[in-house]
Amino acid sequence: MSEQTNKSKSGLSFVLDLAKPYRRKITTLSSASFVGGLLEAGFLVLITGLMLSLASGELPTLPVTGPLESRSTVLGLASAALIARLILGLLTAKITADLGAMVTVDYRKRLSHAFFDSDWKTQQAEPSGRLQELMGSFVVQVNLAMTSLTQGISAALSLIGFIGTGFFVQPQATLAVLGALAILGGIVTPLRSLIRRQSHRSTTSTLAFVASVAELGSLGREMQTFGVRGSFKERIDSLAKTAAEDRRRANFTTGTLTPVYTFLAYSAILAGAGWASTISIGNLGAIGAVLLLMMRSLSYAQQILSVSGAISMAQPYLHTVNAAISGYLANPAAAASKRSDNVTPLALQEVSFAYESDRLALRSATICIQRGEMVGVIGPSGAGKSTVAQLLLGLREPDAGQVLVGGLDLATMDRTWWTERVSFVAQEPALMTGTVAENIRFFREGIVDEEIHRAAERANILNDILALPEGFATHLGERGTRLSGGQRQRLSIARSLATEPELLILDEPTSALDSRSEELIRNSLAQLHGSVTMVIIAHRMSTLDLCDKIAVIENGEVTAFAHPKVLASTNAYYQNSFRIQES
Ligand SMILES: Nc1ncnc2c1ncn2[C@@H]1O[C@H](COP(=O)(O)OP(=O)(O)O)[C@@H](O)[C@H]1O
Ligand SMILES: [Mg+2]
Repeated sequence: MSEQTNKSKSGLSFVLDLAKPYRRKITTLSSASFVGGLLEAGFLVLITGLMLSLASGELPTLPVTGPLESRSTVLGLASAALIARLILGLLTAKITADLGAMVTVDYRKRLSHAFFDSDWKTQQAEPSGRLQELMGSFVVQVNLAMTSLTQGISAALSLIGFIGTGFFVQPQATLAVLGALAILGGIVTPLRSLIRRQSHRSTTSTLAFVASVAELGSLGREMQTFGVRGSFKERIDSLAKTAAEDRRRANFTTGTLTPVYTFLAYSAILAGAGWASTISIGNLGAIGAVLLLMMRSLSYAQQILSVSGAISMAQPYLHTVNAAISGYLANPAAAASKRSDNVTPLALQEVSFAYESDRLALRSATICIQRGEMVGVIGPSGAGKSTVAQLLLGLREPDAGQVLVGGLDLATMDRTWWTERVSFVAQEPALMTGTVAENIRFFREGIVDEEIHRAAERANILNDILALPEGFATHLGERGTRLSGGQRQRLSIARSLATEPELLILDEPTSALDSRSEELIRNSLAQLHGSVTMVIIAHRMSTLDLCDKIAVIENGEVTAFAHPKVLASTNAYYQNSFRIQES
């Protein structure tokens, strides 16, 4: 679909879409350029008149006004036109720069807002590195398109001012110039659509390159330990080469526009001169002025052309950005408004869910969690445990059945109300560049320092933090690399406890940790037991003996949901797992 609209959309409607939000500034720019063009054309007419009068020794004669009283009048008028032209030129430069900055900020904002307002499914499906690339180099291309557009508008209106003046001075010659320009424009049209196609290919290969680099970048440790650095380099080199090759082609075609144009333009002048020699020549001053106007018109036309090449080049980038924005906007996070008194009882009611239409990740799952309970979820890898966590969090919606919160369907509930009461700890702690306190607060500005302190204490990380050189103000470095895995995980537990949630969902929080960290986390959870409702997905059994109930999930189905003691005597999976870990 995107390919289709990309091609069918004409350059003109593309330009109009880009310009629409900035109508007022562009109108000012256009007026300034038009008047500037008139002034410049007037200046050239004055100067040719003056030169000819110097050569002939007579008073200057202008095409429209006829003879003037003195040369100093002409000089005065020419200087005034020049100064006014300068002022207008500076004004257009300012508007061009302003528009470039505005469009950059606007597009970055639209991209990020649309992304953050989209649902979890859309966000998760986003290829890694794509959003960064769209916000970075793609938006830079949009900025270039805007700058080119304003320069093009400015050149086009100056050209119109020129042609208008030309009609006054010498209508026939001006008509000839106009005809030549139209033909030139027609000749280079196929080049412009070629540029657009090549640039479209280049956007695709750039995004593929970025996604691969992002993925390879996250495998740095594996690359070192598996000794596959050479293959990594080759892979990156070849991707970089493909992306650069597509861009090179588009650049070359864009580069051919100017020489081709110059050749055609001078050929047209040659033809014009031949034609002029066959007709009777009127006023010499008029011919001189027309020649100057014509040359300058051709250079304005050249500017328009190179700008239109740049716009054709940028068009697929803007198209990709717009398509991404509409993709996000088409999948907004649910906006519902119901609230319940409590987050409990929390239940999965006959819930089925599929990531891909042909295979259910969860089939008719039913469990009910009461206030203050701690519920464990166990099962083989790939059984559907994390899917349960995402459904309970409301990150995904069931294809059939309901997630019930205090008897109400979670899909109909106010997101803000829900997120204020529910917290999540993932298997991989996701820390960010910033201080310890910032990582615990995590943008929730209402959380005061005492609450951060208390959350750290409850997550059994307080002593570790106080041992850091600057305590809570210690900078963690990118993604918290300064801490051990266990410390990072306890920090993310502190983050999830900072708002005193009613419900805490943990997805294998200790499966990658050493036994000491696991024990500290287990102690934290034991202390929360009873006051916070908890769902803990676990691989190992040590946290599970705290649980009031355990759900066993196998191959997308809840095969048991009972007290651990009951499972110990009735459930084969539980018995096997327990035996394996005991031994
Ligand atoms: N984002 C996804 N897209 C497609 N399939 C997925 C996705 N996430 C998980 N699955 C599949 O759904 C099934 C259940 O996954 P999950 O709930 O993550 O299992 P686990 O019990 O290991 O947490 C698996 O077969 C997995 O391959
Ligand atoms: Mg999982």
